[in-house]
Amino acid sequence: MCGIVGIVSEKPFEVGELIKALKRLEYRGYDSVGFATDKGVVEKDVGEIKDFMTRVDLKQTAKVAISHTRWATHGGVTKTNAHPHTDCSGDIMIVHNGIIENFIELKNELKKEGHKIISDTDSELIAHFFEGKDIKKACVDFFKKVRGTFAVLIIKKGGEEIYALKKDSPLALGIADGMNIIGSDIYAFSDKTNKAIFFDDNEFAIIGPRSYEFFDKEGNPIEKHVQEFEWSSREEEKKKYKHFMIKEIKEQPIVAERLIRSLETEQKEKILELKNMIENAKRIIFVAAGTSYHASLLGTYFLHESGVEAHALIASEFNSFATVDDETLIIAISQSGETMDVIKSIKFARESGAKIASIVNVPYSSIQRLSDISLNILAGQEICVASTKTFTNQVILLLYLCSLLGYKTNFRELVRNMQNIFEQEEKIKELAKELKDKKDIYVIGRAMAYPVAREIALKLKEISYIHAEGMMGGELKHGTIALIEDGVPVISLIPEGDEDIISNTKEVEARGARTIIISSQPMKKTDFAIPSGNGGTFAILSNMIGQMLTYYIALEKGLPIDKPRNLAKSVTVK
Ligand code: F6R
Repeated sequence: MCGIVGIVSEKPFEVGELIKALKRLEYRGYDSVGFATDKGVVEKDVGEIKDFMTRVDLKQTAKVAISHTRWATHGGVTKTNAHPHTDCSGDIMIVHNGIIENFIELKNELKKEGHKIISDTDSELIAHFFEGKDIKKACVDFFKKVRGTFAVLIIKKGGEEIYALKKDSPLALGIADGMNIIGSDIYAFSDKTNKAIFFDDNEFAIIGPRSYEFFDKEGNPIEKHVQEFEWSSREEEKKKYKHFMIKEIKEQPIVAERLIRSLETEQKEKILELKNMIENAKRIIFVAAGTSYHASLLGTYFLHESGVEAHALIASEFNSFATVDDETLIIAISQSGETMDVIKSIKFARESGAKIASIVNVPYSSIQRLSDISLNILAGQEICVASTKTFTNQVILLLYLCSLLGYKTNFRELVRNMQNIFEQEEKIKELAKELKDKKDIYVIGRAMAYPVAREIALKLKEISYIHAEGMMGGELKHGTIALIEDGVPVISLIPEGDEDIISNTKEVEARGARTIIISSQPMKKTDFAIPSGNGGTFAILSNMIGQMLTYYIALEKGLPIDKPRNLAKSVTVK
């Protein structure tokens, strides 16, 4: 959460260039935005980057500048709380991603020293901490003094470099010609360079236009390795689509095909290695959050169908529920590769000797770099905050893994069927009109359809702003059925041969529910037909119906589909 970008360049650059780079990180938070330059200019405001861009002079130049797009943690969404923050003199300007845990103690100390703190944020304290000090020396003190998570960029009025500090929050340096760019992730500079240095925890750096020096938290110089990365930016344009969400939904057959090809070729060795790790582990635990957790639940189902026992835990509760030892294999699933709860879980498991595998979308992300083995889902950048194509590719990767263990899938047919599912779009649009004013929607499924029920409900909540519950069909009669009355919509996911979910569907119909049937078996009343295949293919195809339904409901309601309120794509705080 929160995106930061800094540029330090030999030649003056326009601030517009910096803000363009920042825009590529907007998915990390979008409630306020700002920048600061070596000339001492600080501009910030609440709202989205595109509106901010119309209000500020983007033509002004600088040789050093930093910027920030915010997802509020400490302090409300106000102009004063927006970043950058400055010290009392205005000479020190900082941007911060993370949370300072001992901010009360720090604030009291700084106030006693006479600093005037004007915002409600923890981040402002960082600027005051460095006020009047030798910044390099103060970086060492900062690591000693400050508890919490941080990626911080600091510049000085008239200064020629950026100071960058990192602990737990992601930070990467992109090395371009006569220019260095520091950002929360490679998207900040992937249009300018394919050379990057990734900060590890407890490191800081002094970065000039053609130089960089890295230090450990004690201030000792350290060697860093420049990595070349591959990243396609072709998917970043919205093209003919009104929203990234629908573009990303429509892209699914293409990115699925790309992943399958890669699993058959360049990622083949790695997936075979992961299969071996699974076969040799005593215990397998998936860990993930949100949509990625739903993919993990499907992973446990596919492994179960392959005769392998596994469990899935939500990352924020991992430490309280996981039993981990050196014969445990953790499989972390994360689109961003930066979800703080997943990172914490991995670190906790690692301390007990567990092996770590991960499945991520963003290459070189923290989770990938913390893993013993990591596979990429190759979905390309996902700009809409809600995960769609990345969920599908996570599931395809898991299906592919389990096909090596015995749970067979016809992948070519799956991709063909994914394309054909769009033929039902007009019918989905009609249904969206009917459902748009509903207060609650229930989604039920059993076995592999249960994680899908949860995933569809999550999409309905975050994008269509309709309260939805995705649940096991069998659990319904243990309480929730009390809420079913005339006209309440219940989406029922009915894979071939599942007689029990048909009974559950009848139970809600008998109480007046308006059922919407998504089914792969011939039934009298089917709203959306899914071609037959294994459970994995039913999961992917039925979920695609749910994705489109969510999109068209939100469109009917005129909601901010790509950037729903209060959310951010990369959740880098606990
Ligand atoms: C929902 C959504 C979130 C993420 C969750 C985990 O559409 O996108 O629920 O799935 O925040 O994020 P990653 O996968 O980046 O770890």
